[in-house]
Amino acid sequence: MAKPILLLTLSLNLFLLTQNRVLSCDKQEQNSLLSFISSQSPPLNLNWSPSSNCCRWEGIACTPDGRVTRLWLPGKNLTAASLSLPNLPYLAHINLSQNHLSGLLPSLPPRLITLDLSFNALTGPLNRTLPTTTHTVDLSSNRFNGSLNPSLMLLRPSNLAIFNISNNAFTGPNPSSICNVSQSIKILDFSANQFTGPISPSITQCSNLQVLRGGSNSLSGPLSRDLYTLTSLQELSLPNNQLSGPINDAIANLSNLVILELHVNELTGPIPQNIGMLSRLEQLQLHSNNLNGTFPPSLTNSINLTTLLLRNNLLNGQISALDFSKLQRLHALDLGNNTFTGTIPDTLCLIKSLTAIRLAYNELTGEVPPCMASLKNLTHLSLSDNLLSNAAGALTTLKHCHNLAVLFLSRCFHDEIVPDDNDLLHPDTFKNLQILTLGGCKLNGQIPFWISKLKKLKVLNLSFNKIHGPIPEWIGTMDSLYVLNLTQNSLTGEIPHKITQLPALISDNTSTDLSHLALPFLFDKLQYNRLFNLPRGVKLGNNSLTGIIPPEIGELRLLHILDLSNNNLSGGIPDSVSKLMNLEKLDMSGNELTGEIPESLTKLHFLSAFSVADNDLEGEIPKGGQFETFGFGAFEGNPKLCGEVVNRSCGGGIGFRPAAGEDEEGGVSFWCGVRIPFGVGYFVGLVAVSGVVLLKSW
Ligand SMILES: *[C@@H]1O[C@H](CO)[C@@H](O)[C@H](O)[C@H]1NC(C)=O
Ligand SMILES: *[C@@H]1O[C@H](CO)[C@@H](O)[C@H](O)[C@H]1NC(C)=O
Ligand SMILES: *[C@@H]1O[C@H](CO)[C@@H](O)[C@H](O)[C@H]1NC(C)=O
Ligand SMILES: *[C@@H]1O[C@H](CO)[C@@H](O)[C@H](O)[C@H]1NC(C)=O
Ligand SMILES: *[C@@H]1O[C@H](CO)[C@@H](O)[C@H](O)[C@H]1NC(C)=O
Ligand SMILES: *[C@@H]1O[C@H](CO)[C@@H](O)[C@H](O)[C@H]1NC(C)=O
Ligand SMILES: *[C@@H]1O[C@H](CO)[C@@H](O)[C@H](O)[C@H]1NC(C)=O
Ligand SMILES: *[C@@H]1O[C@H](CO)[C@@H](O)[C@H](O)[C@H]1NC(C)=O
Ligand SMILES: *[C@@H]1O[C@H](CO)[C@@H](O)[C@H](O)[C@H]1NC(C)=O
Ligand SMILES: *[C@@H]1O[C@H](CO)[C@@H](O)[C@H](O)[C@H]1NC(C)=O
Ligand SMILES: *[C@@H]1O[C@H](CO)[C@@H](O)[C@H](O)[C@H]1NC(C)=O
Ligand SMILES: *[C@@H]1O[C@H](CO)[C@@H](O)[C@H](O)[C@H]1NC(C)=O
Repeated sequence: MAKPILLLTLSLNLFLLTQNRVLSCDKQEQNSLLSFISSQSPPLNLNWSPSSNCCRWEGIACTPDGRVTRLWLPGKNLTAASLSLPNLPYLAHINLSQNHLSGLLPSLPPRLITLDLSFNALTGPLNRTLPTTTHTVDLSSNRFNGSLNPSLMLLRPSNLAIFNISNNAFTGPNPSSICNVSQSIKILDFSANQFTGPISPSITQCSNLQVLRGGSNSLSGPLSRDLYTLTSLQELSLPNNQLSGPINDAIANLSNLVILELHVNELTGPIPQNIGMLSRLEQLQLHSNNLNGTFPPSLTNSINLTTLLLRNNLLNGQISALDFSKLQRLHALDLGNNTFTGTIPDTLCLIKSLTAIRLAYNELTGEVPPCMASLKNLTHLSLSDNLLSNAAGALTTLKHCHNLAVLFLSRCFHDEIVPDDNDLLHPDTFKNLQILTLGGCKLNGQIPFWISKLKKLKVLNLSFNKIHGPIPEWIGTMDSLYVLNLTQNSLTGEIPHKITQLPALISDNTSTDLSHLALPFLFDKLQYNRLFNLPRGVKLGNNSLTGIIPPEIGELRLLHILDLSNNNLSGGIPDSVSKLMNLEKLDMSGNELTGEIPESLTKLHFLSAFSVADNDLEGEIPKGGQFETFGFGAFEGNPKLCGEVVNRSCGGGIGFRPAAGEDEEGGVSFWCGVRIPFGVGYFVGLVAVSGVVLLKSW
């Protein structure tokens, strides 16, 4: 009984002692701190007054006898170009994280316990020796580079428990051999560098390892068996590498695993059938490998799973018989792009927590089970590229999922009637839907009226069907629509004037965008994680539209893509098209257009794909701007067009002659076959600036 009281009094005395001692700060250490801080420019906003006890300064703590032990100044805008720590021999805890420090790693104090220099701009190699006292090292998110030799960096016996060097520019063999020197490591994170090689066999010596992260490097070789001995592991995360070979059954030994991420590697063989023994597992991400074999039934026993991503593998077998009902915490299930067969399992309907399901790119048959109507939290459903039937039934079911924002149903039905049930007109139907794709289903019928009620719809893809009749005027009243793809149908009539009033193509109202999607999606063969990256476009190609191109089309100034190809459009190319300053792709080929190509189109600086081939255009092909980059194919099939690119002279003379006034237009082209690459230079500049836009869009 006496001992605790004694201890309590002792520590109370100690506490009073430290509190009462005024001006106990070691003078030399105080000066060292002051010179450290005075080297800062601009000066820091700290209460470090030379006349007060430095042990009471913000970010400083001392031993009872006034020796500085702690320098804790995270996020203070420190800006040393060459960081040199103050000369403080008792310093144990340093946190200068989230500052603007640059230069090399300084020499470290001999009693170091905690070192956090994360989120700075430090560079150079990690060639300092850590004192044996060191427990925590966080040098992540800097610019450290060169290779790393753990046995030079650490002295034995080492107490190192946390070592985070993620998000730097290190190269060379990965530091998993650190366990040779320091067996006490619990957290090892070297992700997002350029480390190479396999995981070192010495990893087995870190028997207390709880977190191993080495994703986004160039690790290679098989998943070492040694990993399976680390039974304390809670997180094993090695995604985005080139790891190969199978996942061994011994993975089941890692019974404490909560997170297992091995996605985007080159793993082969089956998913271990006993993986369901990992009962604590919450996140299993094995997507984008070459895993084959079936879905291990045991996995449906991992009741804590929230994320299960197995897309882009070679998995097969019937999934109908699987009983998912125990996975009551599952949010995201992605089995897309495998060769699963059978019907969509009814037991999926029992997981009310589901927000995202992707079964796209498989060989599933049957219908969308009516019970899916009960998945009220579902926001993202992708069933594209399967062999389902009853599109009308699917929509009648899914309209009850009021939170659905993304619904991909392309190429999953075949040769049916366009769903047009009166029930779908209910105001609650798909009231949150932002993307609807029903392309490539060879659906018959007309564009159904219920679509006009989808006030939040941004993307509508009905391409590659057999839809006939006119494009309804109401399309132009859809408030949010900015991608309309009606390519390859049998649409007739004129391009409705109303379409030139689509609000979301006139002014940017993307405020309600799905900022982050539960699962990435493929669109035009590219993968998107965010909706606002989608290029805004109107695609009406390969139909039987007639009449003129309405000049008001120039109002849709946010358009990136305008495809009117292969219709029966006539009249001229409106000059107003040149107002579509964001246009990257303009295709009007295969129509009956007449007149000249407006000179003003050369003002479309982002235009990288252009065609007016196979029309009845005439006159001189404009020069300058992006037109310098379009080849013969863009203009062929117009016998009355002239210009160098179609190898037909304008004005009847021999060879090419500039049209009157052209030289005044900025000296874009000279004769004698020499071109001053004004236009090209300009183009290259723009590509650099808009590189992201262009890369994302094509
Ligand atoms: C750091 O600098 C930024 C910009 O100069 C300023 O907004 C911020 O308040 C500063 N932070 C501190 C802790 O002084
Ligand atoms: C350093 O300070 C930051 C900001 O307060 C904090 O998030 C971080 O956990 C600290 N580092 C350590 C090792 O405690
Ligand atoms: C660490 O590397 C830097 C840069 O290469 C070098 O200038 C410095 O002398 C090295 N320090 C030690 C202790 O080896
Ligand atoms: C390592 O540091 C980064 C920040 O640079 C952080 O995001 C990451 O979670 C840390 N790793 C571990 C295992 O805590
Ligand atoms: C490390 O980066 C610095 C500049 O930040 C550079 O001068 C040096 O050559 C790099 N070292 C290695 C090994 O890449
Ligand atoms: C680990 O240490 C042993 C003996 O100390 C040595 O033989 C082995 O090469 C070391 N392994 C690594 C990866 O450094
Ligand atoms: C996994 O555990 C079993 C049973 O404890 C043991 O026999 C086996 O050697 C372990 N496998 C590995 C790779 O550690
Ligand atoms: C599932 O997680 C809960 C809390 O997150 C935990 O209490 C429970 O033990 C876990 N279940 C299993 C089987 O590990
Ligand atoms: C899985 O692929 C491996 C080759 O990586 C092959 O040997 C094996 O037969 C395949 N298994 C199945 C079930 O397809
Ligand atoms: C399907 O997965 C394979 C292999 O990972 C990949 O190469 C392919 O691009 C994927 N296809 C789609 C449509 O995602
Ligand atoms: C559905 O979502 C709501 C709101 O995010 C959440 O409170 C609720 O727990 C979710 N339901 C299930 C079954 O997870
Ligand atoms: C739209 O139509 C084009 C044809 O121009 C087609 O290749 C594309 O895959 C369709 N889908 C989307 C989402 O754009």
